[in-house]
Amino acid sequence: MNAIQAAAQRKPTDLRAAGAAAFPWSPESWRSFPAQQMPTYDDKATLEGAEARLRRYPPLVFAGEARKLTAALADVAAGKAFLLQGGDCAESFQDFTANTIRDMFRVLLQMAVVLTYGAGVPVVKVGRMAGQFAKPRSSDIEEIDGVKLPSYRGDNVNGFEFTPGARKPDPERMVQAYNQSAATLNLLRAFAQGGYADLHEVHRWNLDFVSNSPASAQYEDLAKRLDETLTFMAACGLTSATTPQIAETDFFTSHEALLLQYEQALTRVDSTSGDWYDCSAHMLWIGDRTRQPDGAHVEFLRGVKNPLGFKAGPTTKPDDFLRLLDSLNPRNTAGRITVIARMGAGKVGDHLPALIRAAKREGRTVVWSCDPMHGNTVKAANGLKTRHVSAVLQEVREFFAIHRAEGTHPGGVHFEMTGQEVTECVGGAVDITVEGLTARYETQCDPRLNASQALELAFLLAEQLKSERLSRERSVVSGK
Ligand code: PEP
Ligand code: CO
Repeated sequence: MNAIQAAAQRKPTDLRAAGAAAFPWSPESWRSFPAQQMPTYDDKATLEGAEARLRRYPPLVFAGEARKLTAALADVAAGKAFLLQGGDCAESFQDFTANTIRDMFRVLLQMAVVLTYGAGVPVVKVGRMAGQFAKPRSSDIEEIDGVKLPSYRGDNVNGFEFTPGARKPDPERMVQAYNQSAATLNLLRAFAQGGYADLHEVHRWNLDFVSNSPASAQYEDLAKRLDETLTFMAACGLTSATTPQIAETDFFTSHEALLLQYEQALTRVDSTSGDWYDCSAHMLWIGDRTRQPDGAHVEFLRGVKNPLGFKAGPTTKPDDFLRLLDSLNPRNTAGRITVIARMGAGKVGDHLPALIRAAKREGRTVVWSCDPMHGNTVKAANGLKTRHVSAVLQEVREFFAIHRAEGTHPGGVHFEMTGQEVTECVGGAVDITVEGLTARYETQCDPRLNASQALELAFLLAEQLKSERLSRERSVVSGK
């Protein structure tokens, strides 16, 4: 039975699952569905004014680029490429500098080079950048010393400062988020295509990282082999002067499509295909708190043609998982859906196999990606939210092991990270302790891996990807 027959046979619990065509979608159809995690704006006139302005502003990305990413993700789904998605939990208006953007881009490229070598396939690079401004919260209200104020919901909704004025949702912030996204994307495009992404340069940064790391012995071997490969390639005439793939790269943007007024205002018809695209980013995802199959976020995203992700957590039941796939990808297009599993270390085996089997049973093609961050957030003794690098690594290893057991492709990873040497996650080669967290704890939301911790993980994963690849190749040769 193929995916479309399976969807038709399932008794639909919401009407859209029966077939999207029968239920007209428009960029504003989400407004008649229940929406979680959205702010209430008191000043309707200012809201409408900001939305109207955004509707007139130029799109940030072009539909053809989103299609290119869908095609790249189809390769990931088929095991012919690997996905690296990463960036801030929340971008901020305050941390908006060329250096922050450059450092994030640089560490993502460094990780990508190492992972490419380990996986032996291209790495699709997607930043949580240039639009990652809206945050779901576990509580609507934050209380400090008996004072209660609305929770911070990301810089395109309200301010981080704990004052009544800052915490009031302000629609004008959407326009500032748009402008910051445009400037960020402009610099990312320049970096990706203008020579900064040169493979030899990225490799040199990696060599510096390895020589300065307290755990350098662990990474030296891989770095040396990569060095030999690049020298050999250069000897064969493959240099940045002769080969564009060495001098430049593709880099895509993504964010959680949470603030639907903003997403709607940037949704445009592509003149080439006649399809709707959300031109705020190449890829959009639905968070764990807004993935209700009959909710507004699913309604909005089912109608845009961008590649989509949705988070799958311990509470994601196989039935809802299939309903989401029915709504968001009724034609089972490869590369359209990335399932971002965020189960928590020690829990992947309890929850992921049922989803993998449901997808297999119904012939569903998805990219399986692992977010080892959001299931591993803990409160340290000093009250700060943190994550242990060891738990992050453990969850990724469990994710790989489950896919090996199920015979499916572990397609990628999704990290919250920064290019700065912040102290927000515990552990790593430099071994940040709980006491050390306060030194540079800068996140406005969840704790991020710092540049060294992120790169260390990339080196360890590259070794893992390599050993999996070699054991696959061996079993092909031996016919097992
Ligand atoms: C996030 O990715 O920042 C996030 C809020 O994740 P989740 O929806 O998985 O909780
Ligand atoms: Co987060």
